[in-house]
Amino acid sequence: METFPHRHILGIEGLSRADIEHVLDTSNAFLEVSRRPVRKVPTLRGKTVINLFYENSTRTRTSFELAGKRMSADVINISVASSSVSKGETLYDTCKTLEAMHPDVIVMRHASSGAPHFVARNVRCSVINAGDGMHEHPTQALLDAFTIRRARGTLEGLTVAIVGDVAHSRVARSNALLLKQFGCTVRFVGPDTLVPPELAGYGVELHHEVEAGVRDADVVMVLRVQTERLKGALLSSLGEYSRTFGINRRRLALAKPGALVMHPGPMNRGVEIEPDVADGATSAVLDQVEAGVAIRMALLYLLAGDSGEA
Ligand code: NCD
Repeated sequence: METFPHRHILGIEGLSRADIEHVLDTSNAFLEVSRRPVRKVPTLRGKTVINLFYENSTRTRTSFELAGKRMSADVINISVASSSVSKGETLYDTCKTLEAMHPDVIVMRHASSGAPHFVARNVRCSVINAGDGMHEHPTQALLDAFTIRRARGTLEGLTVAIVGDVAHSRVARSNALLLKQFGCTVRFVGPDTLVPPELAGYGVELHHEVEAGVRDADVVMVLRVQTERLKGALLSSLGEYSRTFGINRRRLALAKPGALVMHPGPMNRGVEIEPDVADGATSAVLDQVEAGVAIRMALLYLLAGDSGEA
């Protein structure tokens, strides 16, 4: 297999379409490993992965941990609340300290955009961005692409409506960058305050009316209303959001028949998505979670495995 030409995964920006296809193709084999009765392969024996999470996470942190363990790597989880960061250590010192312990990969999530890029410039090991502020979440976009490709057979030419709190969403940004590379029509759908005009710079359609936004879409990707990042009066109330933009069965029926419903999690049921849609026949929410482990196994393998450059 050809070698993967990157040492870090900092964003979809910087990955070519061929790189993305390489990751998705590699993930197919790793999905199969997770479905076996014995879910362990020796691929990363003797390698060390450090999960450094400055923000909360359930799916992303757990799936990186499982991904490393299923490939026999040693995986260390650092949650910042219990680390020296709470004693005032800088990001630079934390990373130099971790580097002195010879990890192969640092997976990091941070509230500031660009934090993983800063770390990547200062350490010798590989760095994977597990979400930086409102900037990028490349592994989420890759697992979303993997999920769509498996469900639809292709990514080519699909219409994907990304509905909700796009302004605060690193998931929306990474997805738009990825899907555009495959000729998808991407729509950002939400109230003006959460889908501001500058987002048109991503080469997407902006919709401020949910019915038009989801009409004839192949995929309806629903985003969480990020109450922790909402400042001031961007939303009058969650109840009003749900009435005007929440994805319910009536609105989903405007999309293509059988349209795939996605959500990166965690879901606010009854706010951005109704339970009967979240649990409906075309919901891929749990397929996304399963894909997350496979994608992260593939990335760890491509960066730290013997075929990798690192
Ligand atoms: C997302 C995140 O943290 O960016 N969650 C995730 O990684 N699955 C989305 C969110 O927090 O709403």
